[in-house]
Amino acid sequence: MIVYLNGEYVPHENARVSVDDRGFVFADGIYEVARIYDGHMFLLEPHLQRLRHGLGELKIRADIVDQIPAIADRLLDENSLRTGDATLYIQVTRGTAPRAHAFPKPEVPPTVYVATKPFKLHPDAHWNDGVAAITVPDTRWARCDIKSIGLLANVLANQQAKEAGAFEALFVRDNVVIEGSHSNLFAILDGELLTYASCGYILTGITRLLVVDKASEIGLPLREQGVPRERLFDCSELFLSGTTTEIMPVVKVDGRPIGNGKPGPHTKRLIGLFKRWIDEDMAAATAGHGGGARRPAS
Ligand code: PDD
Repeated sequence: MIVYLNGEYVPHENARVSVDDRGFVFADGIYEVARIYDGHMFLLEPHLQRLRHGLGELKIRADIVDQIPAIADRLLDENSLRTGDATLYIQVTRGTAPRAHAFPKPEVPPTVYVATKPFKLHPDAHWNDGVAAITVPDTRWARCDIKSIGLLANVLANQQAKEAGAFEALFVRDNVVIEGSHSNLFAILDGELLTYASCGYILTGITRLLVVDKASEIGLPLREQGVPRERLFDCSELFLSGTTTEIMPVVKVDGRPIGNGKPGPHTKRLIGLFKRWIDEDMAAATAGHGGGARRPAS
């Protein structure tokens, strides 16, 4: 597998960064994960826009971002990934400098790592039968809109879910269920489609933006609001959204069923629509209309 590191294309096993890299020392960096369907980069532009946002917030130079499409393109060729499913992983850190909290002076070049990898989809049963989730207190910082590589709270929450035999951990903040450890959360409650509003408490997922953008196709009014913890089991349906999760039904939380314990009709319809949205994005790219260029609405 060939990866990109700081201007070079190198075998994965030869890619090396310094122990003084601020990503290693401080988690001082940003990452992105995008999907590649049959060699086509899905919604790449909004992912790059979010990367620019994060780098801007951390005051890390973002000039590399314009080169990512070409880098990704070359990696797809180098790694024979023009067919099948793959992920694109991008990580940019503040660079390498002796350990000191404040930014290095003089400024050092950011460390830039880009990799493409074949993606093994979750078992079909996850989508057909739904998955289980647990709720956990949200111990993260208040800038979750920044896709920071500092993911310790997410890692611990996800591990807790795995140990409980669940797929996802749902963060609860101020008694409201807001998102998962690596996915956003949607609910159907009182005939409305609910998802937590875009703010510093969640990562504004690109998949979430797509669902929000297309909410009218689902035929449900959208309300950007989280699910009050005490109303979780009044929801008729719950589903996750994410780059690797796509649209995934959640049928059980903390051991109790959601609705009738099976994926609901709206979620099933959305899973079908999602496939169509991928095809539409691919067709737009092929026709030269800048597929993947759909912009986050917020
Ligand atoms: N995670 N919320 C969190 C906390 C996430 O980490 C992610 C994505 C999402 C969904 O965002 P998107 O639709 O843009 O993938 C929401 C990625 C996939 C990861 O960490 O691997």
